[in-house]
Amino acid sequence: NFVMSSLLASLPQHIAIIMDGNGRWAARRGLDRTRGHRAGARPVARVVEAGVAQGTSVLTLYAFSADNWHRPRREVDSLMRLLERYLFTETARCVAHGIRVSVIGRRDRLNRSLVQAIEQVEQRTRAGENLHLRLAVDYSARAAILRTAMQLQSDKAVEAAEFLSRMNRVIHSSPAAPAVDLLIRTGGERRLSDFLLWECAYAELVFTDRLWPDFDEHDLEGALAEFARRDRRYGRVGPPAPVRVASY
Ligand code: FPP
Repeated sequence: NFVMSSLLASLPQHIAIIMDGNGRWAARRGLDRTRGHRAGARPVARVVEAGVAQGTSVLTLYAFSADNWHRPRREVDSLMRLLERYLFTETARCVAHGIRVSVIGRRDRLNRSLVQAIEQVEQRTRAGENLHLRLAVDYSARAAILRTAMQLQSDKAVEAAEFLSRMNRVIHSSPAAPAVDLLIRTGGERRLSDFLLWECAYAELVFTDRLWPDFDEHDLEGALAEFARRDRRYGRVGPPAPVRVASY
């Protein structure tokens, strides 16, 4: 019925998060940046649990961008170890909660042991049907688009949906994921930083000053409430909508 369908339309099926602010969170406490990344694992658990509870289909988290390789070696190594440990320790919990995990991005520049961790978690969680958790590691949206285009090498018209399903294969997203409905970025910056550029074409963008390690259920609820207030028209005129004053 109408109430149900408008309620469902107000819930994002695919949420993507740029988890920014770990370094500043640590610096404010006089701690090493790597401690900030470790603290960033807690809100990951919080948003995954909330995602399952409210029926989100796909949650994509930006854990390591292709440009993050340019950070100091020590920080890169620590992030890689953190990810590997996270994948091993969370596998059983993901299986228990029906969470299917996949890692998107390049794999050829990752440590052998991290690739093994990725393969085992994908294998062991593949029956999960409650939530598809995608961690973006060594991910670049522009690289993903370029590689997909290279594979096509064709003058024939390609549907956007077909392009996305090919790109999902290129970035190892198994199963394929739909376009993003809601993109959240913490840490105060207002940019996409080469994250899911194609998939965010019609995403609602929500930015918060909260630093990622402090992001909690209330912040997520706030973002979801903001999403529900947005009027998604996809470039059309659409049904009458409340007049909104642009906020820029
Ligand atoms: C950005 O903060 C964050 C990252 C580059 C890494 C994100 C990784 C985690 C949250 C670790 C936990 C994730 C999993 C899946 C276990 P920043 O370092 O750019 O912070 P800054 O802008 O304050 O310097």
